Amino acid sequence: MIREYDSRDIMYIEQIGQVISENYKFKINPFIKCYVYDLGAKIVGFVVFSVMYEQTEIIDIAVAEEEQRKSIGTKLLQAVLSECKKQNCESVTLEVRNSNKKAISFYKKLGFREISTRKSYYHDGEDALIMIKMVV
Ligand SMILES: CC(C)(COP(=O)(O)OP(=O)(O)OC[C@H]1O[C@@H](n2cnc3c(N)ncnc32)[C@H](O)[C@@H]1OP(=O)(O)O)[C@@H](O)C(=O)NCCC(=O)NCCS
Repeated sequence: MIREYDSRDIMYIEQIGQVISENYKFKINPFIKCYVYDLGAKIVGFVVFSVMYEQTEIIDIAVAEEEQRKSIGTKLLQAVLSECKKQNCESVTLEVRNSNKKAISFYKKLGFREISTRKSYYHDGEDALIMIKMVV
C-alpha cells in the first residue's frame, strides 16, 4: 500500500535512495510530501514531491533495485497525480538527468513530455531534462 512516510521510514528511504545517488540524503521541509510503498514487512519505494499552488514538482522517486519493473513506480506517481488533482494543480514537472534513459522512458510512459533542457544543472556538469504533465 501507499502511505505518507513517517520518521521510522527515513533510514529505509535513504537506503532505497542509493539507486538515485550514493549517499542519498532525505531532506524534508513543510512544503514537501513523501509517500512510501509499503509491502508490510518493508518499504520498497518512495516519492518526494511538493505541491505549490498550481504546480506540483516531483523531487525524487525511487524503487529498490530488486523490486523495479513491477509497476511500483507507476503506482507511486499515480498517487502524486491524484493528490495534484485533489489540490487543483494544473501540472506536474520534474528534472531528470539527460543520461537517465530508464527514468525518461518511465516518465514518458506516464504521459510526461520534454519541455526544455537546463544546461549543466548537476554538479558533474550534466544537463537536466525538464519534463511536464498537464493534469487538468
Ligand atoms: C524510474 C523508476 C522509479 C521506475 O520505477 P519502476 O517501479 O521500476 O517502474 P514501473 O515498473 O512502474 O515501469 C513503468 C514503465 O516505465 C518504463 N520503464 C521502467 N523501467 C524501465 C527500464 N529499465 N528500461 C526502460 N523502460 C523502463 C517502462 O515503459 C515500464 O512499463 P513496462 O514495464 O510495461 O514496459 C525506477 O527505475 C528507479 O527507481 N530508478 C532509479 C532512480 C531514478 O532514476 N529515479 C528517477 C530520477 S529521480
